[in-house]
Amino acid sequence: MTTTLITGASSGIGAELARQLAAAGNDLALCARRTERLEELRAEILAAQPDRRVAIAALDVTDDDAVFRVFRSLADELGGLDRVVVNAGLGKGAPIGTGRYDANRETAMTNFVGALAQCEAAMELFREAKRGHLVVISSMSAMRGMPKTMTTYAATKAGVAALAEGIRSEMLGKPDLDITVTTIYPGYIRSEMNEKVAQQTRFMVGTEEGVRGIVEAIEKGVDSARVPAWPWKPLGTAMRHLPLGVVRKLT
Ligand SMILES: NC(=O)c1ccc[n+]([C@@H]2O[C@H](COP(=O)([O-])OP(=O)(O)OC[C@H]3O[C@@H](n4cnc5c(N)ncnc54)[C@H](OP(=O)(O)O)[C@@H]3O)[C@@H](O)[C@H]2O)c1
Repeated sequence: MTTTLITGASSGIGAELARQLAAAGNDLALCARRTERLEELRAEILAAQPDRRVAIAALDVTDDDAVFRVFRSLADELGGLDRVVVNAGLGKGAPIGTGRYDANRETAMTNFVGALAQCEAAMELFREAKRGHLVVISSMSAMRGMPKTMTTYAATKAGVAALAEGIRSEMLGKPDLDITVTTIYPGYIRSEMNEKVAQQTRFMVGTEEGVRGIVEAIEKGVDSARVPAWPWKPLGTAMRHLPLGVVRKLT
């Protein structure tokens, strides 16, 4: 039996991950600020999977102390955590230097500093248990610097991918600790973050389909995965190597 904590579980990818991991036999700890959404999701999951245990907790990932306190109390409630999915994220932003430092800062604090707090809190628990699986949700936008409203968002997602790789590297030097680190680079997956984006956005997939790819990568415990693999696996490689002026047009 695997017990998985998911942040940002009140909508989009996080909520669907909860549904699919519960169906795959995981007990769950679900966190977000909108607890009424978590309560509805718990009721839905328990109706479909009455044998699962689903704990919920209010959490703002920009509140450092709360991240440590909530992760530990959910671990105590469920008898330990096997896996933590660092998923909570925000897509606010504006071009740098256009007077919206407030929006860019909020995205940076949620997506990077919030993710750092979550990684610290998860790794404390995993180091104590000598085992665990840390999953970090980055983005295909992490492949290169992005223009317009995406600049800060993409920088935070490159930051969390580097953070995850650094933790993975640290764990390679600790053979006594059975800790796996997986970085997920989602392409466009339908969620609240992009609900205002036109339906015909190139390569957008439905939430269920996109999350199915994420669950597959998580369960395999791979180091990293671009999801869905088509077109993002080859496109990611192209994005890394093409001239910036070309990448700009792809996104
Ligand atoms: N959808 C895509 O195409 C796509 C692509 C690449 C990467 N991603 C990443 O996937 C993750 C999930 O995003 P999504 O697409 O599913 O968007 P979403 O539907 O907007 O979900 C975002 C989740 O993050 C939570 N959240 C935001 N700020 C928070 C905070 N300060 N404290 C705690 N929770 C917070 C929200 O919960 P509350 O508001 O209830 O707190 C919500 O559950 C994000 O990290 C996003 O960057 C998404």
